[in-house]
Amino acid sequence: MERTFAIIKPDAVAAKNAGKIIDMIEAAGFNIVGMHKINMSQEQANELYKEHSARSFFGEMVAAMMASPIIILALEKENAVLAWRDLMGATNPKDAAAGTVRALYGANIGANAAHGSDSLASAARELAIFFPAL
Ligand code: CMP
Repeated sequence: MERTFAIIKPDAVAAKNAGKIIDMIEAAGFNIVGMHKINMSQEQANELYKEHSARSFFGEMVAAMMASPIIILALEKENAVLAWRDLMGATNPKDAAAGTVRALYGANIGANAAHGSDSLASAARELAIFFPAL
C-alpha cells in the first residue's frame, strides 16, 4: 500500500466541484486516510512549492492557493502516487485526457482543479507538511 497527497484546489472548491472529485477518488478505489478543508498558510505554500520558487508564476500561484479554502487529502491505494496522477490527468487541462479530474473541472494551467505528489518521495514530504500526525 502506498500513500499520496492530494489537494482539491481553490478553483474547484469555489465552483462546488469538491464532492464530485471526492466521488471520483472513492470510485477509483482509494481509501481516504485524512481529509480537511483548510486555508493554506504562507509557510505551507512556500514549503509545498519550494522547487518552483524561481518560476515566474510562483507568486501568482502561491497567492491563488491561499486566496480561498482548499481540501487536502491523504490517499491510500496500491501505486497511489501514479494512480492519483492518472486520475487527475495532465497538468494543463487542455492536455488532460477525457474523463480526468482536470479535463472535467480544470479551467487553465493555474486553476487546474487538483494537485498530486509527483513521486513517492514528494508524497512523504508533502504529507508531512499537511498531515504531520500521519
Ligand atoms: P501543481 O500540481 O499544483 O504543481 C505545480 C503547479 O504549478 C501546477 O499544479 C500548476 O497549477 C502550476 N503551474 C505550472 N505552470 C504554470 C504557469 N505557466 N502558470 C501558472 N501556474 C502554473
